[in-house]
Parts: sequence; structure tokens; C-alpha cells
Amino acid sequence: MSRSGYFVAFEGGEGAGKSTQERLLAASLVERGRRVVRTREPGGTPAAEAMRAVVLSPQYTGLDPRAEALLYAAARGEHVAQVVRPALERGDVVVCDRYLDSSVAYQGYGRGLGVERIRDLSLWATGGLLPDLAVLLDVDPRAGLARFAERDRLEAEPLEFHARVRAGFLAIAAAEPHRYLVLAAGQPVDAIAAAVLDRVVTDLAARNEAAS
Ligand code: TYD
Repeated sequence: MSRSGYFVAFEGGEGAGKSTQERLLAASLVERGRRVVRTREPGGTPAAEAMRAVVLSPQYTGLDPRAEALLYAAARGEHVAQVVRPALERGDVVVCDRYLDSSVAYQGYGRGLGVERIRDLSLWATGGLLPDLAVLLDVDPRAGLARFAERDRLEAEPLEFHARVRAGFLAIAAAEPHRYLVLAAGQPVDAIAAAVLDRVVTDLAARNEAAS
């Protein structure tokens, strides 16, 4: 596929501030004249949002972990086919709140379903699409979870689960440092936003040079 766009995903545990950072990055890039598609997982299309409603609903407490993994992968496949890939082919920047490494961290490490299997499942679902950059906002789950009064089905998992997820994200990022920017989520919002923008602008400039 021709892929002239740029794909950045925000990853991290609960309450890390991903949504805020995703919004700030998108706004800064639009100011710089880039076409930006903002989206999220699970979700991003009507069918994937319906899958999100099922997978996150506390109504389905005890949902089989394999069914959970398949639902996230199914929602991702649909989202990539309908939204992400077309945007990248148009040359847009795609800024996504969570992507494939959330499945590896939550279902692979958190649920213990097998890191390779979960990664392969999403690679199959998406035709092998990985982000150009993943930003990991690293947060102590105790601090992150304290931000929520009402919890969805995943947030309601015990602290040990969220500790495995955090360790999983850090292991994924350490294994692929060129694809990851790891930032402590406790820093001031503006400092995080500046670090993310700096990295993205540098990547985009390097890409333009390579193309010219
Ligand atoms: P999100 O809406 O990003 O939650 P929050 O804004 O509260 O961080 O994500 C929904 C939940 O789904 C979150 O608990 C993480 C979980 N999740 C997975 O377990 N696997 C996945 O592949 C994805 C994308 C999310």
C-alpha cells in the first residue's frame, strides 16, 4: 500500500491523560497546517463503537477473556479498514487514543493470554498495520485509577491486573525503543505535550527530507 500519512498512537494505563494529550497534539498539528484524523480504540466506526459498548460494559462482568481479546481485535480490524488506512493513504496524520499495544498489554500481559498470540491476532486483523510512533504515558495504576469514581469493566479489574498491564507496556516499549516515546504521566500536561509535539515534528521533517 502507498502510505504517505503518519500514524501516532497514545498508549498507557487507566487515568494516564491520553485523551488530553491526543487532543493537544491534534490541535498543534492542525495549527501547523496538517490534516489530522482523531480517533480512538476500541471504536472509531459505528460497528466498532458497538463492539466497544459490549466489551466495556460492567453488565458483562466475567466475559470470557478470549472473547474479550477477539472483540478488541475485531473492533481494530474494522477501524483500520474503514478509518485509519484510508486516512494514511490520503496522507493525513492519524492520532489514535490506544491501538494494538493496548491489546498486548491488557489481554497479553494482563489476562495472560500470550503476548505473541495477541500481537499476531491484531496484526492479522489489521493487515500488519503498526503506528509510526507510540507514545506511552506511564502511570502508577494506584494514581491513575484514583481518577475514576465510576469504573468500566476493565477499570474494575484488581490492582494486580493493572500492575501487569503497566509492566507489559514498559516491556513492549523497551523491546522497540525506536517506535516508542515513553513519558512519565505525572509531569505537567504542557511539558508532556511539548515533548510529544517535538518528537512528531522531528519525525515528519525527517520523512519530508527523505522524500525530497
Ligand atoms: P479507553 O476508552 O482508552 O479507556 P480510558 O480512557 O479509561 O483509558 O479504553 C477502554 C478500555 O479498554 C481500557 O480499560 C483499556 C481497554 N483496552 C484493552 O483491554 N484492550 C485493547 O486492545 C484496547 C484498545 C483497550
